[in-house]
Amino acid sequence: MFLSRLATVAGLACVTAGQVVNQTSCNDKNYTYQELAGYGLISGNARDEYGDTIGGIGSAIALDRSQWKKLSNGSYNGVLWALPDRGWIARFHLLWDMIRRQGFKKSTHFTDRHTPSPSNRKLIRSNGRNTEGTLNFQPRVHKFDILFTPQPNATVASPSGNNLFFTYKETIRFLGPDGTPCTGLDADGTGHISFPGFPDLPVATYQGDGFGNDGPGGKRIPIDSEGLVLTPDGSFWVSDEYGPYIYRFNPAGLMIGAIRPPDAIIPMRNGTESFSADSPTFYASKGAGDDVTPADNPTGRDNNHGFEGLAVTGDGNTLYVLLQAAANQEGGLNKQTERYARLVKYDITIPSAPRYAREFVVPLPLYNDPTAKASKNPKVAAQSEIFHIQDGQFFILARDSGAGHGQSVSLSVYRHIDIFDISTATDIKGTTYDCANCSIASDAGVLKTGITPATYCSFIDFNVNSQLNRFGVQNGGAQDASLLNEKWESIGLVPVDGLVGDDDEWFVFSLSDNDFITQDGYLESGEFRYADGSGFNLDNQALVFKIHLPDHSRPFDRDP
Ligand SMILES: *[C@@H]1O[C@H](CO)[C@@H](O)[C@H](O)[C@H]1NC(C)=O
Ligand SMILES: *[C@@H]1O[C@H](CO)[C@@H](O)[C@H](O)[C@H]1NC(C)=O
Ligand SMILES: *[C@@H]1O[C@H](CO)[C@@H](O)[C@H](O)[C@H]1NC(C)=O
Ligand SMILES: *[C@@H]1O[C@H](CO)[C@@H](O)[C@H](O)[C@H]1NC(C)=O
Ligand SMILES: *[C@@H]1O[C@H](CO)[C@@H](O)[C@H](O)[C@H]1NC(C)=O
Ligand SMILES: *[C@@H]1O[C@H](CO)[C@@H](O)[C@H](O)[C@H]1NC(C)=O
Repeated sequence: MFLSRLATVAGLACVTAGQVVNQTSCNDKNYTYQELAGYGLISGNARDEYGDTIGGIGSAIALDRSQWKKLSNGSYNGVLWALPDRGWIARFHLLWDMIRRQGFKKSTHFTDRHTPSPSNRKLIRSNGRNTEGTLNFQPRVHKFDILFTPQPNATVASPSGNNLFFTYKETIRFLGPDGTPCTGLDADGTGHISFPGFPDLPVATYQGDGFGNDGPGGKRIPIDSEGLVLTPDGSFWVSDEYGPYIYRFNPAGLMIGAIRPPDAIIPMRNGTESFSADSPTFYASKGAGDDVTPADNPTGRDNNHGFEGLAVTGDGNTLYVLLQAAANQEGGLNKQTERYARLVKYDITIPSAPRYAREFVVPLPLYNDPTAKASKNPKVAAQSEIFHIQDGQFFILARDSGAGHGQSVSLSVYRHIDIFDISTATDIKGTTYDCANCSIASDAGVLKTGITPATYCSFIDFNVNSQLNRFGVQNGGAQDASLLNEKWESIGLVPVDGLVGDDDEWFVFSLSDNDFITQDGYLESGEFRYADGSGFNLDNQALVFKIHLPDHSRPFDRDP
């Protein structure tokens, strides 16, 4: 029985055994969302081995395929890598005022009593994008042991408690090719840094310690991590938003390679490359002002809309990277027009010599934002992650923004893991579309004739309350810990049989990015303490979906 109608009746429908939540067919391949299988969290004030807050970790995840095991008692063990982005961002004017009033110095602890009132909070939020302040956070990846015990009998009337548990293992911090730590600080408006054997890389020049205190200053490679792919030799790839680049790190976190994308994706200002995302440093921004002119680069990836999606094929030989939404010369400056996103394919058969192979266009889904004026709808659901299934079919996590725990609106209307298929899409690689000001669409977001984009198929809706409520969580409603976070940004797959998935049954893990929002935050090896100006504490939430993939799918090759 096809249950989409039932499932959309939030909180009323209870899917019983044998039924499914939804099914979809994409180019004759059938996918089934069977049920929500789990929920778990890492507390928003958990800290890593360096004393820093474990936050933002849902920017990307990777499940180590060699460690995933089904235990005889029905539980599963695994190792999950989780990638935070560029660290905590001071988002509010008032926070800066508060710090100045107190005389900002190391070890100052900002407490709840300085939290803005809800009405102030609203005002501060409306100050928008220019209130950000980036910090000299060293980008990193965390590893966790996970213990997962499916609870198929959970119902809305009798929900399961959390059934996914995380035990912190270790953290790898990222270093540039010469061993200098990388940074979450925004890139400089002009210039780059060079290393032998690498393309020119973005650079962030900072003063003091980069947190607002005394120090020698310096230059570091800025990375706002968003995508993660593991390889069998222990090295791993990370895609970022500043360049946007793809970096390769050895198991110790040392950068051993970098991929610079086609020029059409590189941000340009005044006719030269300009990697700044217009996210001023915390110590210089004082909560106001741009740090680069013009704030919006006319061509290339939009600010903070870089390589959100990174995937590898099952044989490990091909990387795919997808922009969060359209580049600026092709509609990227508006939520209504940023629909056509570039997907770039690299052959990494020789990992030290990646080869640009092909390029395609993915049409992002549209949704109606009930809080927006009719003239502002429909909006494009930007994407936050991709995962390769097989034969050119991918999962893609596309969603709305501004709705969820800690946001002014609690009801999200679009939060999906959908599917796209590139088998009939046009390969746009080449001089026609790849030059600095070349475009695949008009700046109003109309795709050029002659380009066939990927096929897009709707699939898993995160927001089905009849499933969420089985694990005591929900979309919409009260602003409390059981409300889903705004930002879901990661996809990991593991087989239900604990082996290779011959029965095509898989668990899909997704973690949310909590933006490091806590009232008990630590950075700079525990020396920089903060309380987010929103007043909220957000957990790092995780969901597990049980699905059936098309027959004989092999998202990854593995000997049984
Ligand atoms: C079910 O999938 C269809 C596409 O096959 C989609 O249009 C619909 O929104 C989905 N419904 C739910 C509740 O996920
Ligand atoms: C996919 O599902 C449809 C509808 O249930 C069915 O008719 C079709 O045979 C299925 N296709 C495959 C390849 O399983
Ligand atoms: C299964 O065994 C593991 C390992 O001993 C244990 O941690 C887990 O709690 C057990 N699961 C159940 C459902 O008892
Ligand atoms: C679920 O319920 C069925 C029927 O009551 C029972 O046989 C089964 O053991 C239960 N499964 C779990 C994991 O509790
Ligand atoms: C671009 O040119 C303007 C006008 O000369 C200048 O103010 C601005 O700083 C330049 N921006 C960059 C990134 O070079
Ligand atoms: C692209 O930039 C080049 C160099 O600045 C310029 O000559 C050319 O006219 C531009 N092309 C378009 C389509 O804007």
